[in-house]
Amino acid sequence: MCYKLWLALACILFYRCNGNRHEVRKFPEGFLFGTSTASYQTEGAWNEDGKSESIWDHMSHQIPCSIKHCDTGDISDDSYHLYKRDVEMIRELGLDFYRFSLSWSRILPTGFPDVINEAGVQYYNNLIDELLKYNIIPMVTIYHFDLPQTLQKLGGWSNPHIVDWFGDFSNIVFRLFGDRVKYWVTINEPYYICYEGYGADIMAPQVNVTGIAEYLCAKNVLVAHAKAYHIYDEVFRPTQGGKIFISINARWNEPDGDDNVEAADDANQFFIMQYAYPIFSKSGDFPSSIKKIIAAKSKEQGFLRSRLPEFTPDEIEYVRGTSDLYGLNHYSTQLIYRNESVKGFYKIPSMYDDTGVFIYQLDKWLLSNSSITKAVPWGFHKLLTFIKEQFGNPPIFVTENGFGGSTGLEDNDRVTYYRLYLSVLLDAIENGSDIRGYTAWSLMDNFEWNQGYSIRFGLYEVDYTCPNRTRTPRKSAYVYKEIARTHKLDFEFEPNTSVPISALGEDGDENH
Ligand code: NOJ
Repeated sequence: MCYKLWLALACILFYRCNGNRHEVRKFPEGFLFGTSTASYQTEGAWNEDGKSESIWDHMSHQIPCSIKHCDTGDISDDSYHLYKRDVEMIRELGLDFYRFSLSWSRILPTGFPDVINEAGVQYYNNLIDELLKYNIIPMVTIYHFDLPQTLQKLGGWSNPHIVDWFGDFSNIVFRLFGDRVKYWVTINEPYYICYEGYGADIMAPQVNVTGIAEYLCAKNVLVAHAKAYHIYDEVFRPTQGGKIFISINARWNEPDGDDNVEAADDANQFFIMQYAYPIFSKSGDFPSSIKKIIAAKSKEQGFLRSRLPEFTPDEIEYVRGTSDLYGLNHYSTQLIYRNESVKGFYKIPSMYDDTGVFIYQLDKWLLSNSSITKAVPWGFHKLLTFIKEQFGNPPIFVTENGFGGSTGLEDNDRVTYYRLYLSVLLDAIENGSDIRGYTAWSLMDNFEWNQGYSIRFGLYEVDYTCPNRTRTPRKSAYVYKEIARTHKLDFEFEPNTSVPISALGEDGDENH
């Protein structure tokens, strides 16, 4: 009996000192913490001061109920008027940087550089200056889903001329803001732009020319990104000295058993490598496996050439190596399998038919009964390791990670999610991944695309019934603040949310 008791005690002590995920762990020196939003999701003021329509304004007005509850971003968080409060919140959180995006149609209402809207430029100048006043680093995403509708009329991301249109827009914003902005994200989440917007009808502009438009878009997005990179690198970097990179979204694709390793690899190739390989691999170009699959299927289907456009040798070189960091947006993991019934299951032609896999997630991955985002931290670790191994350990910047839930300030699931994901991020660093920073999505609740305001991602809750869109910190805001303040992850920390977050000083205690 006594022996057993000693053994149990020894085990507890061993577990506490070795490999207990709940020990207090430290982030590396210089690791940056921030938070993110995007223009259409937060700004509102959709037609104020000379701004023209974006594809999301257009879609939400023309086909109103294609978005849940017929929501729109017309007012959203009204950050166009309330940006000072936004910056105040980032100060309250004590974060190093703020990632936000530029509304192309607010700066260039025609989509082209012939008209520069001074009021739009002033808005971003004000926001950047307000951040810098409090030593918060601005990280600017040039494109986050809200294309000017004028350019969509010309085919948007399926028209190769967008390479020049995006290059011109980038050139202008480097010139306008680059004296103060040192972190540029060219394009956010190519998969969502191309697959959901062009190869399906989930996101604006709902082109839905399946199996074709998403691939035209993929090539154009990659070359457009490279164009912005080269303009920055050659013209602006010598005097402005910043970093420029792309944000690629990825779920981890886990094989559903040993028989499905190949299926999961195909999923990784189509969903991640289609966009990452041309930039981050040594050889460049689309991965050869997807080139082969799409070419063969296209032939079978009666096309005279592959539905996946080719890069010329010059374009391969032009795109390869054009990202100073690997920007990674990650939220969850999915299981992948394949069987005979996948043939003919998806629309033909389509990217999902080309990939030829089934996808599902497990309910047990939910953190609680009321939870929404499936939390699979080990998938994040596998993804970080995959990126390290595939691309020779590139510096990674996590540009988005976060938890979608419902309203309410006691967001314990979000707190758990952040802690679990940050914990495996620390494991990945210990295992050699070069991870430079972490961005919580999102600073506050906002317009969650086709889900409208039904899913909440905010560290701050936004009250949409209030004309002044009151923002209130959730429990997760207090916890994230403590992580950023101490540079430590402590699962045991319980914040005192009855103290106003603004009253917590640099020592973490209430200011007297
Ligand atoms: C990815 C997108 O970049 C962002 O706009 C979106 O709101 C979040 N993920 C959450 O879905």
